[in-house]
Amino acid sequence: MKQITAKSLRKMWLDFFKAKGHAVISSASLIPENDPTVLFTTAGMHPLVPYLLGEPHPAGKRLCDCQKCVRTGDIDEVGDAGHCTFFEMLGNWSLGDYFKDEMVKWSYEFLTSPDYLGISPENLAVTVFEGDDDCPRDEKTASLWKACGIKEENVFYLPKKHNWWGPAGLTGPCGSDTEMFVDTGKPKCSANCSPACDCGKYLEIWNDVFMEFNKTADGKYEPLSQRNVDTGMGLERVLKTLQGKSSVYETDVFAPIISKIEELSGRKYGESEETTRAMRIVADHVRTSTFILGDERGVTPSNVDQGYVLRRLLRRAVRFARSLGMSGKALVGISEAVVENYKDAYPELNANKDKIYAEIAAEVERFEKTLESGIKEFEKLAHYITNGVVSGKAAFKLYDTYGFPIEMTVELAKEHGLKVNTEDFEKAFEEHRAKSHAGAEQKFKGGLADNTDTVARLHTATHLMHRALKTVLNDENVNQKGSNITAERLRFDFSFGRGMTPEEIAEVERLVNEAIKADVEITCEEMTVEEAKNKGAVGLFASKYGEKVKVYTMGKYSCEICGGPHAHRTGELGRFKIVKEQSSSAGVRRIKAILASE
Ligand code: ALA
Repeated sequence: MKQITAKSLRKMWLDFFKAKGHAVISSASLIPENDPTVLFTTAGMHPLVPYLLGEPHPAGKRLCDCQKCVRTGDIDEVGDAGHCTFFEMLGNWSLGDYFKDEMVKWSYEFLTSPDYLGISPENLAVTVFEGDDDCPRDEKTASLWKACGIKEENVFYLPKKHNWWGPAGLTGPCGSDTEMFVDTGKPKCSANCSPACDCGKYLEIWNDVFMEFNKTADGKYEPLSQRNVDTGMGLERVLKTLQGKSSVYETDVFAPIISKIEELSGRKYGESEETTRAMRIVADHVRTSTFILGDERGVTPSNVDQGYVLRRLLRRAVRFARSLGMSGKALVGISEAVVENYKDAYPELNANKDKIYAEIAAEVERFEKTLESGIKEFEKLAHYITNGVVSGKAAFKLYDTYGFPIEMTVELAKEHGLKVNTEDFEKAFEEHRAKSHAGAEQKFKGGLADNTDTVARLHTATHLMHRALKTVLNDENVNQKGSNITAERLRFDFSFGRGMTPEEIAEVERLVNEAIKADVEITCEEMTVEEAKNKGAVGLFASKYGEKVKVYTMGKYSCEICGGPHAHRTGELGRFKIVKEQSSSAGVRRIKAILASE
């Protein structure tokens, strides 16, 4: 097979789809802006949900990109050959334009042509949807594959569990899919061996989703007003397969990071299973943390939401770094290797590198202090233990109060000749997790798609408030750091160094309500990022030169780059009220506000 690097694969992908009439769009932020259902962008389609539901995209009906994604649901699996908490997804979309015929033909061309991946058709297997009450059997896609040259015995029909794709928030655009696999040539594990089994014979490389439905909160599949194509190719996974490596950590996206860990620890990747696993965990977690901190909408470690996930990743990385004989501080050096390896593809990492390193160093220091007090607490506790078992409750207290990981408690206990009741710990942990929400991406069911009008109004109010904050606080550097909207309230994080006075809060409310009373029309124009800047629009200017964005203007009250849903006139909003203003993290304030009906 062809030797392909991450850089050449990204380029090859975008060039291929550009030649098929697609506009190349920039990766969206890792922190979703208007979607309260998830903490991170989990797939390439995620930032495109409004367009998949029918809103016109400024770049047209054919799009392609390379999107940064984070999924931490499987964090405990990281360390094996394939799981990563960060990954890049290569994607292309038809927004009500082409459908199965073109997509299958192009997929085959990209996979097999010597100008692209050059995989022999003999080594390809595909799956298609076998059909059920919601959607018929996909004979069409199967016949398209066979017409391209895929052998009949390499086309597999599978049920919803395997050949259906919907977004992480459960509701929203979805549909049947066709997945493509490299057949490694290993013998079948059984007579029923198929791409559905994980014996390692078939390696998945690409997923084409035919999005025809919107899944509603009551579990129904409604036909969408347009038929879309949404595809995703996991970059790391494809590199592993094409480079013939046994894990993603040996491909060129990870190799320099692993080398850095070897250098700093004096240990060798592969010297033992334990070392390999620990190195993979450190490499993965530091890579993800670097991307979260370096994101355009970057967050810092905290005890809630994305900040909590980041904290968890960094602390877990410290623990495994220590198991490799490194101090937590080594994480900064490892993060430098991440920035170095990715800075051409993701310039924001280089631009934010000082912040990334400073935040990692600060979190490591906090955690190492915590560890010391946790160790002292443990020693005290151990002193009183008579039956040789640390209770699950005590282990959970160490975890909850001192951020002391259970594995650490188990290790220390062992040194003291003690055991830990991990079963009871798990019970306490699960109860806590069920209460807290953080730790997995999925937060609330429903969301944007189900509450379109309310969400659009709150989102519009966010724009007005953003402008009012800059005016009242007399600081153009007051910038959005995060936004989260549910059907009940908006939540807005912004950079500002101190708490607001009651007078300032009242003034922001007054300005927003004035704009609502003025009942101005909300207009949307498409323009390049440079034009938007010149027009004085606020917003993220992360998009590429020349790329078109949407700018929403509300009379003199707001002008902002944005893609989300908006009301038509400010008068639709109701009465705006700030219910809370508080600190979110260092240098960042958080406002919760509502719209009351008058
Ligand atoms: N949205 C599809 C996926 O993530 C392409 O697999």
